[in-house]
Amino acid sequence: MATVVSAVEMGARQREISVSEFFTKNRHLLGFDNPRKALLTCVKEAVDNALDAAEEAGILPDVVVTLEVAGNGSAPPASQATRFRVTVIDNGPGIVRQQIPPIFAKLLYGSKFHRLRMSRGQQGIGISAAGMYAQLTTGKPVQIISRTGARAAAHFFEVSIDTKKNEPRIFENKKIDWEPERGTQVTLEIEGRYQKGRASVDEYLEQTAIANPHVRLVYHTPEGETREYPRTIHELPPQPREIKPHPYGIEFGVLLRMLHDTKSHSLSGFLAGDFSRVSPAVAQEICKTAKLSADARPRNIHGEDAEALYKAIQTTKIMAPPSNCISPIGERAILHGLYKQIKGDFYTAVTRPPSVYRGNPFIIEAGLAFGKGPEQAAATPEAPAAPLAEGEQQKDDDELARVIRYANRVPLLYQQSACATFKAALETAWRNYGVTQSRGALPGGPMVIFVHMASVWVPFTSESKEAIADYDEIRKEIKLALQECGRRLGVFLRRRERAKSEFRRRNIFELYIEEVVEACARLKGGKLPKDKLRMQLQKIATKRTGGARTDEILGRDGGGPEGLPHSIIVTPEGAEGEAPVLPGAEPVNDAPPDEPPADDTPARTRRKGKAQPARAGKRAGGKAPPARSAKGATRAVKAARRRTPASKRRKR
Ligand SMILES: Nc1ncnc2c1ncn2[C@@H]1O[C@H](COP(=O)(O)OP(=O)(O)OP(=O)(O)O)[C@@H](O)[C@H]1O
Ligand SMILES: [Mg+2]
Repeated sequence: MATVVSAVEMGARQREISVSEFFTKNRHLLGFDNPRKALLTCVKEAVDNALDAAEEAGILPDVVVTLEVAGNGSAPPASQATRFRVTVIDNGPGIVRQQIPPIFAKLLYGSKFHRLRMSRGQQGIGISAAGMYAQLTTGKPVQIISRTGARAAAHFFEVSIDTKKNEPRIFENKKIDWEPERGTQVTLEIEGRYQKGRASVDEYLEQTAIANPHVRLVYHTPEGETREYPRTIHELPPQPREIKPHPYGIEFGVLLRMLHDTKSHSLSGFLAGDFSRVSPAVAQEICKTAKLSADARPRNIHGEDAEALYKAIQTTKIMAPPSNCISPIGERAILHGLYKQIKGDFYTAVTRPPSVYRGNPFIIEAGLAFGKGPEQAAATPEAPAAPLAEGEQQKDDDELARVIRYANRVPLLYQQSACATFKAALETAWRNYGVTQSRGALPGGPMVIFVHMASVWVPFTSESKEAIADYDEIRKEIKLALQECGRRLGVFLRRRERAKSEFRRRNIFELYIEEVVEACARLKGGKLPKDKLRMQLQKIATKRTGGARTDEILGRDGGGPEGLPHSIIVTPEGAEGEAPVLPGAEPVNDAPPDEPPADDTPARTRRKGKAQPARAGKRAGGKAPPARSAKGATRAVKAARRRTPASKRRKR
C-alpha cells in the first residue's frame, strides 16, 4: 500500500531555497555545464568585470589573464590537465575592503543591476558564481588582492560562499605589499579543460580585442606562451549615462510598481520625473488622454485608471530615448578591429540609429570581413600561405560564413542558433548581394559577419549570457544593419569583378607592347622613336581597359572606395578606404613581436602603394607566353582582345 502523507507532514517539509543552493544545483544555467566551458566562463566573468570597472572609473583598461595548470609538483601538459588556476589582474579603481567579501562570495550582489546604463555585467552574479564553481570543484576559496590607490594599502582576501545562507565566509583578510598602485587581482582554482579553437578562452580574448580596441590585453596561455593584444585606440569610449526608463513598451506590472514606489505626489510629476523623455507638457497630455487628474496621487491609481494610463502612454507621441546611455563601438573602431584580427579583401561596418524594445534603448552594429586577403589568394607552393589567425582553420571553398556575436562589447560564444543575431543573419537574403546562400543557411564564402547589440539591458536567454532573446524590434534592426553591409559587399563584388576583367585584359596588352615596339622598330630599320610608340600603345591599352575607372576600383588611384562608406578594400598593393591605422594608434615599435593575430604581414602594414606593372602583370595576367616575332605579337594582341576574361580566371 502506498504511504499516505498528510498536508501537515508536507507542510513541515517546506523550506526556503537560497539562491546559492539553487545555482549550485543548476550551475549549467550560469555557464558551468562542462569543464571546457567553465574555464571560459571564469575568464570571461573576471575580464568583463575588469573592463567594466576600469571604464567606469575613466581608466584605459590594462588586463592580464594568466592560465596555469594547477597541480602539486609535476603538472600534466595543458591539453591533458583538469585543474587550472585562473588569474586576472586589472588596473581599475580597485574595490574598497568591506565590499570585497560580498562581491566575490554572495550571489546577486552588484552595482549594475538596478541602473539603466550600458555595461558588460548586469546581473550581479558573474564573479561570485565563478567563485562558487571553484569552491564546488576544487574546494579552494577565491583569492583577491585589491588596492584603491597609491596611498592605500593592498588587501588580500580569501573568501568562499556559505551556500546555505548565500553569505561570504572569510578565510583570510590581511594587508600585503602589492606592486601595482591601483587595481584588482582575482585568482580562482577550478576544474577545467583547455582546448583551443571555437568557443575557447583564446577565441574569447581574440574577439574581445576586436570589439575593444581601447583595451590592452596580455594573455599568458597555459602552454607558456604570451600573447599581447595591444591598444590601438588611446581614448576611452564615451561614458554611457544612466537613464530613467522610457515609457514605450514598459510592462503594465512595472508601471503599477513604479506608481506605488514613486516619491512624486502628483501623477504628472511622476510621469515627468520617473521616465525619460516625458516633459511636463507630455505628462499633461497623457493625463488628459487617460481622463485622469494631473494632480491625482500616483499611489491611488490602480485598476481601470491604471489601465487607462497605460494605454494613454502607449498612444501619446514621445521622443525616442536618449542614446547617451549607450556607447556603441562605432564604425571606425569595428573596421579597425576586424582589419587587425581577420584577413580579408573587403571590410565594412554599420552603426544603426538607436531604437527601443520594452522601453530599453539599444543600438545595433554590424560589420563584414569578406575574402581571404591578398596573401592567401596569392599563395603558391613556393610562397606558403600567410599564417592563419588564432582559431582560424584552413577552409575549403564551400565553407559557410562565420558569425561573431557581441552584447555590450562582450563576445558571445555559445548557443549561436538560439541568438537573435544568428537568426537575423539567416533571414537576410544574401543572394541579393552576390554571395551564395542555401535555404535556411548562412551565406557561403570566406566571410565573417560581425553583429553587436549595445543596450542598457541586453535580454539574454539565460543567466549565462550566451544568446540574445529574439525580440522583433531587435531582430529587425539587426537585419537592417546586415542588409546595409550586404549592399556594400554587393557593390564591391560587382565592381571588383568588372575591374578585374578589364585589368586582366590590360595586363595581357602590356605583356605584348614591348614585343610590338621591338618588332616595329626592326621593320623601320631602327629609326623608330621606341619610347614614344611604347607610351602611345600603353595609353591605348589603358583606355581600352576601363582607363582610370579600373584603377580607381582596384584602389590604385590613391582615393578611397567610392560610394562605400566605412569600408576598407585590400589589394596586393595595400589597403584602401577608411584608414587602417586609426588616429592615436600605438607607435609601430609598441606592437608585440610574438602575437599571431597581430602579426601583420608586410601587405597589411604597407600603406597605399602604387601598382607595379611588372608584378601586377605577372599576378593577374597569368602565364601567357610572350610572342617571339612581330607577326606573333600582332596575332597575340588580337587574340588577347578577343579573349574572354573568365577563361583566364585563376582559382583563388
Ligand atoms: N575587478 C573589479 N574591480 C572593481 N569592481 C568590481 C570588479 N569586479 C567586480 N566588481 C564589482 O562587483 C560587482 C559584482 O560583480 P559580478 O560580476 O558578480 O556582477 P556584475 O558584473 O554586476 O553582473 P554580471 O552577473 O552580469 O557579471 C560589480 O557590479 C562591480 O561593481
Ligand atoms: Mg560581472
